[in-house]
Amino acid sequence: MNDPASFARQAVERLRAEVPGRAIIAASGGIDSTAAALLTEKALGDRARAVFVDTGLLRQGEVDRVGELFRSSGLRYDVVAASDRFLGALAGVTDPEEKRRRVGTEFIRLFEEEAGRFGADRLVQGTIAPDWIESGGELRSTIKTHHNVGGVPKGTRLVLVEPLRDLYKDEVRALAHHLGIPEPNRQPFPGPGLAVRVDGPVTAERVRRARVANAIVEEEVERAVEAKEMPRPWQYFAVLLGTRTVGVTGDNRVLGEAVSVRIVDSVDAMTATAASPPRAVLGKIAERITRDLAGEVVRVLYDITDKPPATIEWE
Ligand code: XMP
Repeated sequence: MNDPASFARQAVERLRAEVPGRAIIAASGGIDSTAAALLTEKALGDRARAVFVDTGLLRQGEVDRVGELFRSSGLRYDVVAASDRFLGALAGVTDPEEKRRRVGTEFIRLFEEEAGRFGADRLVQGTIAPDWIESGGELRSTIKTHHNVGGVPKGTRLVLVEPLRDLYKDEVRALAHHLGIPEPNRQPFPGPGLAVRVDGPVTAERVRRARVANAIVEEEVERAVEAKEMPRPWQYFAVLLGTRTVGVTGDNRVLGEAVSVRIVDSVDAMTATAASPPRAVLGKIAERITRDLAGEVVRVLYDITDKPPATIEWE
């Protein structure tokens, strides 16, 4: 991409050429799909409709935050509430790739239904280069099935349109800035949501634990960044581990769960370095997680692995 303004102009022209009829836009509230949605609305006007799915796998306060983001970006959108549907699709699934496939399939089914109602035959997604490169589009082996690439079932009647597929994350940030999307520096959040931050079975209860732990990590890191105790990391979150571990509450030994805290620095998510936050910040995170989830989460670990060899997310 040479400059965001000319990229945006060309993308709008391409979208007009690629979409003769109507399109629905898979809008997650991340900067990728928000940028794709704004370009599509510019190109198609009333022939485009952005759909935001509440999967029940979102972060605390996400539905309100996304609504606010879309409103201030000037994007028209509809919300579809679908928690039961996604939790149902994930019931009993522990394999990370299978989770991604199930979430991807559920998304596509839902978008097919929504497209049917709107009379659309195109689905616009905010896929960017690292998504499809890591899903096996260029590398020989599949590192990970990104829900918005590998999860698309064969035989869907929707034609995919991916206006950002050649961009890397830092280019999308520049584009988002150009398009007037507020808060373009907000950290990324994976499409399959908390399903890939719950190691092992995904139940409503375990998703709630992951959600509470994620919110605490976000709050404490953001507080420390604002207080200039640490530089702003690329991404910071919690993962509910698939292991049981012993803790103590009062005089009792309890068998609870463990959470891993991940805080990384990166430029484009292709590689990443485990950050070294102040020990006091980590201590506060551990204290709050084990207090707010008392008897449920009894141990908090800090992940010191770079990418590679690890990925940023656990699954
Ligand atoms: P990994 O874990 O592969 O993640 O090192 C690289 C970056 O991508 C985010 N991520 C996703 N984004 N759909 C997305 O749109 C996904 O399925 C997905 N999985 C991971 C991850 O949070 C990190 O920023």
